[in-house]
Amino acid sequence: MNQDELKQAVAKAAVDHIVPHLDSDSVVGVGTGSTANLFIDYLAEHRNGFDGAVASSEATAERLKGHGIPVYDLNSVSELEFYVDGADETNEHLELIKGGGGALTREKIVAAVARNFICIADGSKKVDILGRFPLPVEVIPMARSHVGREIVKLGGDPVYREGFTTDNGNIILDIHNLDISRPIEIEERLNNIVGVVTNGLFALRPADLLLLGTAEGVQRIE
Ligand code: 5RP
Repeated sequence: MNQDELKQAVAKAAVDHIVPHLDSDSVVGVGTGSTANLFIDYLAEHRNGFDGAVASSEATAERLKGHGIPVYDLNSVSELEFYVDGADETNEHLELIKGGGGALTREKIVAAVARNFICIADGSKKVDILGRFPLPVEVIPMARSHVGREIVKLGGDPVYREGFTTDNGNIILDIHNLDISRPIEIEERLNNIVGVVTNGLFALRPADLLLLGTAEGVQRIE
């Protein structure tokens, strides 16, 4: 199977996993990216089995609405049983790097609210140590140089994502060559830099379930 087929397999597996738990009041948290898009397309086939969704980006909201799925403001939702999203990297502890699509802040907020965070990823995303994928950091525009200097002190090489503005009106610095052998510590240190909105490490709140697409089938890792 190629990478797209593996993404389809995990997207479908996530839908199969959550649909039996949904009812007419259920609201589903939905991530961003190509794997999440496939999840949306499969979820739409069960449109009558749940109420609506909370979106982690404007792009995801548009896709959900395109399928006729109501999109709710997170503030108006009291319970979120499931959040389903892709990742750029995962380790065996289900700690993740996310934000390749720049939606990391809203993704982290929705993941924080959800009782179950299900990560869907093709096998290429599984690594021993996080950090080969440059770590995205969302930054308030006026703090760009300051945050960049602080990241250099941590040993990373920040690269400004040219021509990209997040849904929140901010910029992204992608950190190359950062030692992420201690993900929780790095997540906290980056969070403590003034001007950082969010970083793409999901270690303080890792996924609860990883559905990983491999040549042998979809692996469940908890
Ligand atoms: C977007 C993300 C995505 O989940 C991540 O980039 C993976 O994307 P894809 O499913 O297209 O490989 O974090 O901000």
